[in-house]
Amino acid sequence: MRILVTGSSGWLGQTLVPRLQNASHDVIGMDLLPAPTTQIVGSVADRALVRSTIRDFQVNAVIHSAALHKPNIETHETSAFVSTNVQGTLSLLEESVSQGSKVDRFVFTSTTSLMISREIRAARSRNVTEALWIDEEMTPLLPRNIYGVTKFAAEHLCRLFHQTHGLPVLILRTARFFPEEDDMAHEISQSGPNTKANELLFRRLSVEDAAESHVVAISKAAELGFDTFIISAKTPFHRGDCRQLIADAPAVVERYFPNYRGLYARVGWTMFQRIDRVYDSGKASRILGFECRYGFKEMLEELAAKSGGRD
Ligand SMILES: NC(=O)c1ccc[n+]([C@@H]2O[C@H](COP(=O)([O-])OP(=O)(O)OC[C@H]3O[C@@H](n4cnc5c(N)ncnc54)[C@H](O)[C@@H]3O)[C@@H](O)[C@H]2O)c1
Repeated sequence: MRILVTGSSGWLGQTLVPRLQNASHDVIGMDLLPAPTTQIVGSVADRALVRSTIRDFQVNAVIHSAALHKPNIETHETSAFVSTNVQGTLSLLEESVSQGSKVDRFVFTSTTSLMISREIRAARSRNVTEALWIDEEMTPLLPRNIYGVTKFAAEHLCRLFHQTHGLPVLILRTARFFPEEDDMAHEISQSGPNTKANELLFRRLSVEDAAESHVVAISKAAELGFDTFIISAKTPFHRGDCRQLIADAPAVVERYFPNYRGLYARVGWTMFQRIDRVYDSGKASRILGFECRYGFKEMLEELAAKSGGRD
């Protein structure tokens, strides 16, 4: 397939493009910023550029990952979010279904962030009695910032273009895979690597798995038509754990990973005392046939190997 990948110079894009190439796809990368993984330097909101790219390269499939995202809230105007995340998505969808286009599938990189409302976020610091179990059925969705609002609007554009034009579209609501510190780091007592390790239990995945989910999605989109998937490392938890995850998360983790305390102690790490939400990626496993390779278990195995010996 000849695949247009937007956001090809980014953290995800630079991992995704070589993987698609290894899977024998021809990739055209488009990004505002130059990189070895990008051929077209320009904006997805530039409709003429999107049109000529899709036409001239006879693109068969689009993976749309370019976005302004959470860190850009501090640096960009609200209208820039609308331009990139909404207008950009619309340009790509319109040119994908325009006469003469050869595009027969579209994958949109979305975010689990849009599922977290102000109320849910505020509840983290209140006296909630159980963790929130989050799957694709959760309603209502009331995104709390311009990032979530524009990503949700873009998801709706994807749905609309599937309904009105029959374009197969898969939406991947990806959990966090950024390498930076959490923007709430000041509220977290754990170090960056410790935090990321803990998050693999309920809200994180590796960038390699994020990329791989797109490789699988583009191969399945035509067959699946339209769907939305949460993409996160497989959680070991079950709904029945939600109360105890708030009361005593380390005890729940220990039930699933009896060796975790010893391994954590060796490197001076600690578990979060409470875990207030769990992203369930079960639907992606059942319907998309995708499961992350790297999760908490694999991280513990690495820790055991690095810190030497058995545990
Ligand atoms: N990083 C995460 O933890 C995370 C979590 C959930 C979802 N996502 C989503 O994954 C996607 C990729 O995220 P990332 O972490 O690689 O971000 P990134 O910032 O590293 O990459 C995004 C890329 O998009 C490009 N871009 C921005 N505006 C553009 C425009 N108008 N036209 C063309 N290119 C433009 C940027 O130059 C950048 O290279 C985004 O859609 C993001 O919303 C990321």
